[in-house]
Amino acid sequence: MNRIKTGISGLDKIMNGGIPENQLVLLTGTSGTGKTILCNQFMYTGIREFNQKGVYLSFEEPSELIKENVKKFGWDMDALESSGKLQYLKYDPYRIEDVFSILESTIRDIGAKRVVVDSISALAIYMRNESELRKTIFNLSDILRKLKCTSIMVSEIVHGKEPRISRFGVEEFVADSVIVMYYERIESTFQRAIQIWKLRGSTHSQKLHPYQITPKGIVVTPEEEAFLKT
Ligand SMILES: Nc1ncnc2c1ncn2[C@@H]1O[C@H](COP(=O)(O)OP(=O)(O)OP(=O)(O)O)[C@@H](O)[C@H]1O
Ligand SMILES: [Mg+2]
Repeated sequence: MNRIKTGISGLDKIMNGGIPENQLVLLTGTSGTGKTILCNQFMYTGIREFNQKGVYLSFEEPSELIKENVKKFGWDMDALESSGKLQYLKYDPYRIEDVFSILESTIRDIGAKRVVVDSISALAIYMRNESELRKTIFNLSDILRKLKCTSIMVSEIVHGKEPRISRFGVEEFVADSVIVMYYERIESTFQRAIQIWKLRGSTHSQKLHPYQITPKGIVVTPEEEAFLKT
């Protein structure tokens, strides 16, 4: 099985080498866990180390803001975009079919191998009901599979709601694999931890591992185990 490296060596290790090629991964966690940073690291490494082009669809943050925020990790996303290897798409999804057809044509045009959708939570605002929402998430996963991309779809864990690992409770079923990020209080300090919830067709670490957001990006410690109260 071919693996696509996430660019985070500790994460690749607990996934037994990285994301299986052409899979759709759900990346979920509460707000501020570092999902957007992880996705940009995935893109940056993909282009710089593996020459795999990327498309980044953002439903929430404007791409200028994302690029500005990740600059402090030393990632010059503007330069990658100018060189034609990366394309950010920011779309206000008034008509979701339009968003998806723009996504599809951009993936084809630049020959993208890696795709990020950050995040699908914003979709709910534009959907009439739950079944339309489910259909939309299914459509999106179909497009990404058809185009043979290795993709990360971001969703959120909402604090205080009944515990589930995604915003709508359907994302984990359309995804091949699921990565969960936590930021939890243990007594007086907060700890960050990451977990491979499922990984289709592969073994993976069953443990919860600590990670940090460092000046070079996200660093996962595969040899350590994190302990959260939940
Ligand atoms: N240079 C840095 N060093 C350490 N931590 C940082 C740095 N920059 C950002 N962070 C941390 O990263 C968090 C933001 O990360 P990010 O935007 O990727 O989160 P997110 O999971 O995408 O959040 P949301 O769900 O709101 O989109 C901040 O809350 C902060 O704790
Ligand atoms: Mg984010």
